[in-house]
Amino acid sequence: MPITTCVFDAYGTLFDVAAAARQAASEPGFEKLQQKWPELANHWRLKQLQYTWLRAITDAHSDFWDVTQDGLDWALDATGLEGDPTLRQRLLDLYWELQAYPEVPQMLTALKEGGLNTAILSNGSPPMLDGAVQSAGIGGVLDDVLSVESVGAFKPHSSVYDLVQQRFDCARDEVLFVSSNGWDAAGASGYGFVTAWVNRADEPMDRLPWTPAHVLSDLTTIPQLAGV
Ligand code: LAC
Repeated sequence: MPITTCVFDAYGTLFDVAAAARQAASEPGFEKLQQKWPELANHWRLKQLQYTWLRAITDAHSDFWDVTQDGLDWALDATGLEGDPTLRQRLLDLYWELQAYPEVPQMLTALKEGGLNTAILSNGSPPMLDGAVQSAGIGGVLDDVLSVESVGAFKPHSSVYDLVQQRFDCARDEVLFVSSNGWDAAGASGYGFVTAWVNRADEPMDRLPWTPAHVLSDLTTIPQLAGV
């Protein structure tokens, strides 16, 4: 089936999640981050995601903003940066205004000009996603921003991927689903979407029962993959 609908993961895929720690490290007053920001960003991201899965399997859902704060607190402890409320608050504020990767606006514009549906499907809570979409200035080239909060489960639960068909009334194999998270691309492949894994960091393939249809190093070739 031709692709009619392009759906994107948000954090790490359209928005650079390392940007918060990297930016804070360049600001006056946070010099102690200069050496440690990559380690902090890595711990923060991994714990944030682990907490989504752990909350899912223990039936203790809480929204992505809660697990983002919990992940940050763990990461600050792990890197010896705890006990600085100003730093903690600055990192959280920056998370609300993450930069989009440079190719994102042009890529989304090409999809819209090609007549495709475009959306975000994210673990993020609606207010977090609003903040990121607004600060990146991409609201005009997205048809919708779908948050897992409308089903109260995190990816890769199938009820989350169901949101795409509910919104766009399309077959699963008409959807190109794009994620930088190997596990998310794998889960969406198992669900039946055509998938692209954006592997900017050249990571190994996740050992899961499903594999992405495409592996990309950035988002520039998405319109071509979608047939635009
Ligand atoms: C999201 C996370 C998983 O945006 O990156 O859903």
